[in-house]
Amino acid sequence: MSVLPIDPSRFYANSEKYRETAYPFESQSPVSTTDTLVKAPQNDPFGKPITKTTVAPTPSLTTEQKMFGEVEVPCFDLSDIHSEVEIRILMETWMKVGFIGVKSSSLEPYIDRVYDVMRKYFNQPLDLKMRDWHGNNGQTGFGPEGLEAAKGRKVSDRKQTFFISPDMSKWPAGMLEFKEAIEAYRNELKKYISKFLDCFLAYTKVKVCNVDDMLNSSNNLLRLAYYPAPRSTDDPEMKGAAAHEDVNWATFMPRPTDKGLKLLPKEDKTKDDETKEDETKEDRWKSVVVPKGYILINTGELAALLTNNEDFKAITHRVDNVGERYSMPFFASFPPEYDLGKYTVGEHLQSRLIEMGSVPLENITEETVKHLREVGLLQAPRKELVDKYPQYFKLV
Ligand SMILES: [Fe+2]
Repeated sequence: MSVLPIDPSRFYANSEKYRETAYPFESQSPVSTTDTLVKAPQNDPFGKPITKTTVAPTPSLTTEQKMFGEVEVPCFDLSDIHSEVEIRILMETWMKVGFIGVKSSSLEPYIDRVYDVMRKYFNQPLDLKMRDWHGNNGQTGFGPEGLEAAKGRKVSDRKQTFFISPDMSKWPAGMLEFKEAIEAYRNELKKYISKFLDCFLAYTKVKVCNVDDMLNSSNNLLRLAYYPAPRSTDDPEMKGAAAHEDVNWATFMPRPTDKGLKLLPKEDKTKDDETKEDETKEDRWKSVVVPKGYILINTGELAALLTNNEDFKAITHRVDNVGERYSMPFFASFPPEYDLGKYTVGEHLQSRLIEMGSVPLENITEETVKHLREVGLLQAPRKELVDKYPQYFKLV
């Protein structure tokens, strides 16, 4: 575990109320530095044996602070995290702040290579890229500009995308290096995702059958995103990506090629109302620049849904129009059939894709709308969907 202490007041005041919430184990069962060891997780994430002679670290929030642009980000080295206490600190920081940095120096050469092939790919004429448009709600292959609009937004995003699914079979023709660069990057990235997922599962006791199977399930997507340089003809309301929360469990973001990403830090629960999250207050938004050697891990909506814990609430973010920009977030998720209680992971995603306008209206059946509404989804339907099936949206 790293050594620099976090000052929790940088994110929240260090009040008793906060400490009760953030350190539930501490008040019930203090861990002393001389105690016998914290019980190892059932499934030691990193394959390193934890013996009864190991001394537990002091159970305080400790890590390195690093400025990512305007945001001070708590950073971790996952290879240093083994014990239950260390996992708890990692997860509670992620949960409370909504994002953390993770050291990832082994990814660097792979990242550069992917940006090289992305430039080559996206700089092709649109008609060539449209050969890689496979429909399927934009979940694999190329997606043209205007395909997505954030939940509840009328204006589409400016970005072009290329989604890589776990079982990707249709790669761009004549670009072998594209496939090779992306698969090599994804394989290396998965080592970090697996470790982080192991920590999440150990902390939350959420059960999955097998971590590898989970990361190979269909909702685990690498998205290559290309934001063209702004043009004078653009709709002024059109953002690179409008303010939104990610629908998945966790988003892993290496450095993009330019600034533009902004986060809306979670509300400070210890302060009065005027400091709370409000995306209309421009000064609340903070510019984030992920440095070399780190990835940013953001909370997505599934983190809270899986744990029934609002502290895991997804972080709100957006991408402003800057110059030409490339990025490659990885959306880690749970299998579509995973039961969240009232609905499954797949139904949650389906609802969001419909809300984003990624599913053509003619492909949305009445049966689908009826079912999603009955289980409490489709909370931000697009107007055309409400117009088509008004009987299911009387209260919206
Ligand atoms: Fe996002």
